[in-house]
Amino acid sequence: GRRVVVLVSGAGSNLAALLAAHTDRRYGARVVGVVSDNPAAGGLDMARAAGVPTAVVAPRDFPDRAAWDRALAQTVEVFGAELVVSAGFMRILGAAFLDAFPSRVVNTHPALLPSFPGAHGVRDALAYGVAVTGCTLHVVDAGVDTGPIIAQAAVPVEPDDDEATLHERIKVAERALLVDWVGRIARGTLEVDGRRVTVR
Ligand code: GAR
Repeated sequence: GRRVVVLVSGAGSNLAALLAAHTDRRYGARVVGVVSDNPAAGGLDMARAAGVPTAVVAPRDFPDRAAWDRALAQTVEVFGAELVVSAGFMRILGAAFLDAFPSRVVNTHPALLPSFPGAHGVRDALAYGVAVTGCTLHVVDAGVDTGPIIAQAAVPVEPDDDEATLHERIKVAERALLVDWVGRIARGTLEVDGRRVTVR
């Protein structure tokens, strides 16, 4: 299978879904490494439990953003990544990282982009009062959640939702979308032409 490295900052429920899928050889993708900016990320424990190598590249260990970015790229390169999946990675990837993996970094976001980009997509959608939100898988570019869209799924907002209940409902759809499309990309090829994304 194609070599996939997953970037996580937190709990890692999306990572868990990928780890469950990759045990089937037909899935086409193999998680060969999990990298975090946060040594306390739950996703690191999940990876260890699954026997997947991990690494921590924490910004505080580097003099500036560019140095961190280069170290992150080198770490992911050492794992031999063919595809990088940002799944709950809460930092912006800089030019040094993205140049190392051109059109090979995807990110999952808990809103229907281009609405509600950034770190609080669920909270912002709820505060706006939308009736439908969802999740987006997109190719990462230099902006914040602005890259070409691969796939989206819609999720209804229920009247009594708070951020936690809405996020849980989104995460159910998000895990399914992520597992489906990472597999498709791994078994095929991802082409990006402007804003048009083709997976075949
Ligand atoms: C996911 O919903 C992901 O889309 C979101 O964080 C959650 C991580 O959950 N990412 C962002 O908000 C990025 N701006 P997980 O750690 O359980 O996979």
